[in-house]
Amino acid sequence: MNDQRDPSPAGQLPKTIVLVGLMGAGKSCIGRRLAARLDVPFVDADFEIEKAAGLTIAEIFEKYGEAYFRDGERRVMTRLLQGEPCILAAGGGAFMDADTRKLIKDKALSLWLRAELDTLVARTKGRSHRPLLNSGDPRETLQQLMDTRYPVYAEADVAVDTGLDNPNVTASRALDALEKHLGRSLDAAP
Ligand code: S3P
Repeated sequence: MNDQRDPSPAGQLPKTIVLVGLMGAGKSCIGRRLAARLDVPFVDADFEIEKAAGLTIAEIFEKYGEAYFRDGERRVMTRLLQGEPCILAAGGGAFMDADTRKLIKDKALSLWLRAELDTLVARTKGRSHRPLLNSGDPRETLQQLMDTRYPVYAEADVAVDTGLDNPNVTASRALDALEKHLGRSLDAAP
């Protein structure tokens, strides 16, 4: 997870695009591709939170608890949404915070990467950096999170289905959906 923000202007992108969706939906993977296609910086909110705290997300949860993490997440999202337009991958819980959600709605365009349970389970398997999935049965946890979060993620401006297929194809679908929503072309490619 690298901060790839650079000082160049953000091309044709009118606003930051915030990728929302559950852990394992591919927000970073698709986000990087979208940023490359649009020639704008890619910013990963989780990485920015870790940088600001000087701790990994797992360490923040362990030392200070989830509420503390959410406060930091809200502050970092607020700062990032004040910057130049970029592709911003939010942590899976960011859009669930009413203040952060309102800020995203006011300042950015939100794109929900909607994935089925099997995709999320496959994509998060064997990885230990996500504290919410480190105890209990990850499949059950993800199902519960789908139940509570999907109705809220559905408030995003644009929704795109994502699975285990080629991420370049999903990125193209996401770009098409964004262009349809905006009513104009965004692709920076010549
Ligand atoms: C979380 C998702 C994680 C990270 C933290 C909490 C969540 O980000 O912010 O572990 O509440 O869904 P990713 O969605 O990028 O994995």
